[in-house]
Amino acid sequence: MKKNITLLFALIISLSAFSEDGSRLWLRYSAVNVNKNLFSGIIGNPASTPCKEFDYAWKSMGNMSLTQQKNITDKILVIGTGKDNFIQSLKISKELKLIGTEGYLIRSLKVKDDSITVIAANTDAGLLYGVYHLLRLIQVNQFTSSLDIKEKPSYSVRILNHWDNLNGSVERGYAGHSIFWRYEEEHPTITNKDVTLWTEYARANASIGINGTALNNVNAMPKVLSGEYLQKVKAIAGVMRPYGIKVYLSINFSSPTALGGLKTSDPLNKDVVKWWNAKTKEIYQLIPDFGGFLVKANSEGLPGPQDFGRTHADGANMLADALKPYGGIVMWRAFVYNPDEKDRAKQAYKEFLPLDGQFRDNVIVQVKNGPIDFQPREAFSPLFGAMKKTALMPELQITQEYLGQGNHLVFLSTMWKEFLDTDTHAQGNGTTIAKLSTGQVYPQKLTAIAGVANIGDDANWCGHHFAQANWYAFGRLAWNNELTSEEIANEWITMTFNNSTPASLSNDCHTQIEKVMLLSREAVVNYMMPLGLHHLFAWGHHYGPEPWCAVPGARPDWLPSYYHKADSVGLGFDRSASGSNAVSQYAQPVKEQYDDLTKCPENLILWFHHVPWDYPMKNGRTLWEELCYTYDSGVMQIRDFQKIWDRTEPCIDAQRFSEIQSKLRIQVRDAVWWKDACLLYFQTYSKRQIPYDIERPVHDLDDLKKIKLDLKQHN
Ligand code: GCU
Repeated sequence: MKKNITLLFALIISLSAFSEDGSRLWLRYSAVNVNKNLFSGIIGNPASTPCKEFDYAWKSMGNMSLTQQKNITDKILVIGTGKDNFIQSLKISKELKLIGTEGYLIRSLKVKDDSITVIAANTDAGLLYGVYHLLRLIQVNQFTSSLDIKEKPSYSVRILNHWDNLNGSVERGYAGHSIFWRYEEEHPTITNKDVTLWTEYARANASIGINGTALNNVNAMPKVLSGEYLQKVKAIAGVMRPYGIKVYLSINFSSPTALGGLKTSDPLNKDVVKWWNAKTKEIYQLIPDFGGFLVKANSEGLPGPQDFGRTHADGANMLADALKPYGGIVMWRAFVYNPDEKDRAKQAYKEFLPLDGQFRDNVIVQVKNGPIDFQPREAFSPLFGAMKKTALMPELQITQEYLGQGNHLVFLSTMWKEFLDTDTHAQGNGTTIAKLSTGQVYPQKLTAIAGVANIGDDANWCGHHFAQANWYAFGRLAWNNELTSEEIANEWITMTFNNSTPASLSNDCHTQIEKVMLLSREAVVNYMMPLGLHHLFAWGHHYGPEPWCAVPGARPDWLPSYYHKADSVGLGFDRSASGSNAVSQYAQPVKEQYDDLTKCPENLILWFHHVPWDYPMKNGRTLWEELCYTYDSGVMQIRDFQKIWDRTEPCIDAQRFSEIQSKLRIQVRDAVWWKDACLLYFQTYSKRQIPYDIERPVHDLDDLKKIKLDLKQHN
């Protein structure tokens, strides 16, 4: 009997060891069949995080810890910085000088007759990234005995922005509650569960090179800077530190008044300056490696320096001066728009360009990829390339606010690559945003990239299993913005879905999943907002379509009609020289290309032009026909994804297979909803037939107009 119970326990344990709820992300070491004789021992500091992380992973892969050795033997793994004797004896100090504080070398070397693997760096952070690189090679089965790898990051700050509120809710979060903040009544307790979660979060981030995290919403509450909350920030920072991750806070610009009881928050007022200096000192006494402040000011109703007749530069510099003695930075957001501006897309440029050259060197202006707001496809923000004397950093959105939220499978790497690879022509051919933002065009001491996180306390962290790929891709691109989406998808698929038991991911499954991922962003554009359409979302949520939305008294720039401008003549926002002239904010020849209807890329044509319904597109169809066919192709693509996914069933564990399958069903229904809503509505203006060879609408426009979503789910 006892034996049976023991067996039963063993069975339960082994089953739960393989429970696939997605919680292990891409670090599913136990799913890796590894050759146990890859290494014969290890030389490295066993108390350091890189060695501990290697040991943790190696054991999770079913091995015994590698024994610490004193001398080189065949197949030994050496992990050390330039200060370690073994590394010095390898004579690689010249190369170490070239890789900075976070870079690393991974080398297969011959020492006398022994073949060894070496991870060398200048700091523990570099070693940690090297260890994760090695573990990735093992996970994707690409470890060899002829490694010659030299890496250093594209950006010095690679940061997640959590839009987490202090009551535990997450703005635009689709994966449960905040992992940092709990309901008011539970605050400020910190449980072991929290610490475990934060450690896993830190490990996942470090494994992809993320080295910063802003812990609270950019719509910041002043009380995050209170003593009580700072204690919690200190605790979180303590968990992040060994993983090379600094914590940052979003601050509310009126904190001196709201928290400090001052009469003003004017950045040029002496008492205000004193208040920020003292607060900053208090923070650094608690958290000596605190990263700095993230600021949303004079945007969407939040306070800022303009409330006192000061500029963004005045505000940012005041904070920068307070942070400077401690090495902290200010990330000052350029997400601003004004209800009176006839074209919202022009506002950030108008407010920020005149300030070029006025910011301190520890300020970096954080600019969303597009001039509106994380739409499925936008033209790039014209600030990139135009601001020559100011450090700029891209802000990307990992959370899918406008991209199907927690329900749609969308791999965002292709969208981010499209943006990074865009040639602004600001300094001639090849002035890509990737080059600009890494300081290769205009000197920029500080380089950074931010991603608005999609992380919550859901078992699988991100709500949709495939949304994990976007967290992964952000980190990988922040580390190396030259990686291709194919490379990133490949790594992620293998690490995320490979199973040592019961079945292995076949090449065919792998290829098919990769295909879905790589096509997914364009598919979403096609069924939501093709040809440069944007912001057709319903009032109150950014999930479903409501191109007809009209809310009496609402700000015009919060209504879809402000953006699509449908009328009996045609569709689209005229931003050409004869319209809002937003094109003038771009350098030549981009400006001319966007301005000229015949030269404008068709995937942005309705972004820049009001195009007649019968305008002939390059393929010979009219605009109206092209719109119909494109919406339809988006629906077809998602139906295809469904078929492909169903075929992967033998390769994927049951839980993740069925969870993804049901999300795809929602996505297909949503795609049809989008297509019908937009085509039926625009048809009331175009007065043209939907081409007869495409699938007919399955909804009535009047019924679609009655849909009211649960706003809690789809804010
Ligand atoms: C969008 C989003 C808001 C967010 C804002 C920002 O408008 O809907 O929730 O606060 O962007 O980036 O500040």
